[in-house]
Amino acid sequence: MNVLTVSKIREGTVIDHITAGKALEVLKIIGIKSGSKERVSMAMNVESRKMGKKDIVKVEGKFIGDEELNRISLIAPRATINIIKEFEIIRKFNVSLPREVEGIIRCPNQNCMSNDEKEPVKSFFRIEEEDGRVIARCEYCGKKVYDIGRFLV
Ligand code: CTP
Ligand code: ZN
Repeated sequence: MNVLTVSKIREGTVIDHITAGKALEVLKIIGIKSGSKERVSMAMNVESRKMGKKDIVKVEGKFIGDEELNRISLIAPRATINIIKEFEIIRKFNVSLPREVEGIIRCPNQNCMSNDEKEPVKSFFRIEEEDGRVIARCEYCGKKVYDIGRFLV
């Protein structure tokens, strides 16, 4: 089957093979939110030969840095990045897990100093694998986050 779900783009970034249902979290990680000006198209829960079902996000006219793109692996470890120029894919790569992330995960521990309103510090998490799944561990209080997508800032 080869159905074109969303149009090809001339220039920008295509994030393909996103874990089904996670496209909105991916948008959050790359900083696209209500009021953003970029032209964005996405598809959720479409057929994929490799994955059964998958999500896709296409952002036109925007080139996103590798560090930001690699953070997508926290919620969609199989995502592939395609950088497009003049309708051609000029670069394709798989996202890879960062070892640590600053500021993008909110610590679930209310008493953690990263949640202190009087003395704000940026959150800092180490990324680890536990029983084959990706977890984030707060550098300040040690709290482990198992469902990272739910705790994106
Ligand atoms: N794409 C796009 N605009 C372009 C070129 C490609 O939106 N001008 C998108 C395609 O729709 C697809 C992704 O970029 O979602 C990757 O394209 P391509 O490598 O041609 O597809 P596949 O071979 O299926 O990719 P893969 O090998 O990564 O499975
Ligand atoms: Zn904490």
